[in-house]
Amino acid sequence: MVLAIEWLDDPAPMIRLIDQTLLPGTERYVDVTTVDVLVESIRHLVIRGAPALGAAGALGVALAMAQAGRDKWDAQRLDREIDRIRDARPTAVNLAWGVSQVRESVPSGIGTVLGLARQLVAGDEAANRRLSRHGADWILAHVARDKIRVVTHCNSGALATSAWGTGYGIIHELNQRGRLGLVYADETRPLLQGARLTSWELLQDGIEHVVQADSAAASTILRGLVDVAIIGADRIAANGDTANKVGSVGLALACQRAKIPFVVAAPSSTVDLAVARGDDIVIEERDEDEVLCFAGLRTAPAGARGFNPAFDVTPHDLISIVVTEHGVAETATNTDPDLLATTAG
Ligand code: MRU
Repeated sequence: MVLAIEWLDDPAPMIRLIDQTLLPGTERYVDVTTVDVLVESIRHLVIRGAPALGAAGALGVALAMAQAGRDKWDAQRLDREIDRIRDARPTAVNLAWGVSQVRESVPSGIGTVLGLARQLVAGDEAANRRLSRHGADWILAHVARDKIRVVTHCNSGALATSAWGTGYGIIHELNQRGRLGLVYADETRPLLQGARLTSWELLQDGIEHVVQADSAAASTILRGLVDVAIIGADRIAANGDTANKVGSVGLALACQRAKIPFVVAAPSSTVDLAVARGDDIVIEERDEDEVLCFAGLRTAPAGARGFNPAFDVTPHDLISIVVTEHGVAETATNTDPDLLATTAG
């Protein structure tokens, strides 16, 4: 399994990222030794996906400490640089969460911070594997079909996490249990995480799938070609409203109409009990060129303006379940605002 992110001590303290902007054509690694490069890597989606950003946040604090030693930063400068990592992207709560999990230990030294960050990374993989089993159990108990046909959006696999994956992890688990049918992977405009990354992972795992245009997904669902939609999440509010890659809410609406389950899978680090409802989640707006151009070529006419929200919010009453490592919360039938308290970390 390819690792999206790992810490290396030799020849110098660094974070190694696989450059996800170049996949699947080129497998190139970026060795990050400075906060500047880490922040740019996060902004440009060299590393992406909520749980992987959590790992980047935690390991990023250790990286900043290493740079502080080299460049003789004082405590205030180190604090500001850690803030820059935390704020590099706004929607996935895991980034700020990863920073906050280790930040208080900065006075104890880089060894302590690194130890905590490594624990967080290992904990993410364990959480993903556990939630995948919970999600697969629930789906097999609620979907009456031998080979379950799945639609997914964006990329929630190993590349988006420390390892294994969340929504993708459930797909993997169903496959290992011999219960997976065809997977429809939405291409995920404008940056094509589905076509480039999810398809790459599905191929590596030998999982039968097709890539479809995002605009095909509603029709695929209404034609009865899939049994369940499974996605990851960037931030889950206390009432279950969920921010994920733009296009997710359209899938959820189609699933409601077709009366098939819409499953959100995430480690509890993605649950943000400080945010009451989805309206309060900050949605990242990215450069308009991402939608006005395709593969580097301008496709919209000169003078056209773009609108490029990177995420959308699916209201909790469109979500059948939120599954974390702690179990399953049935959101569509439950409007209790404290619903997720038992599944939060
Ligand atoms: O902009 P991205 O690629 O970081 O968006 C990622 C997603 O929306 C994923 O679906 C989400 O982070 C869940 S990943 C396990």
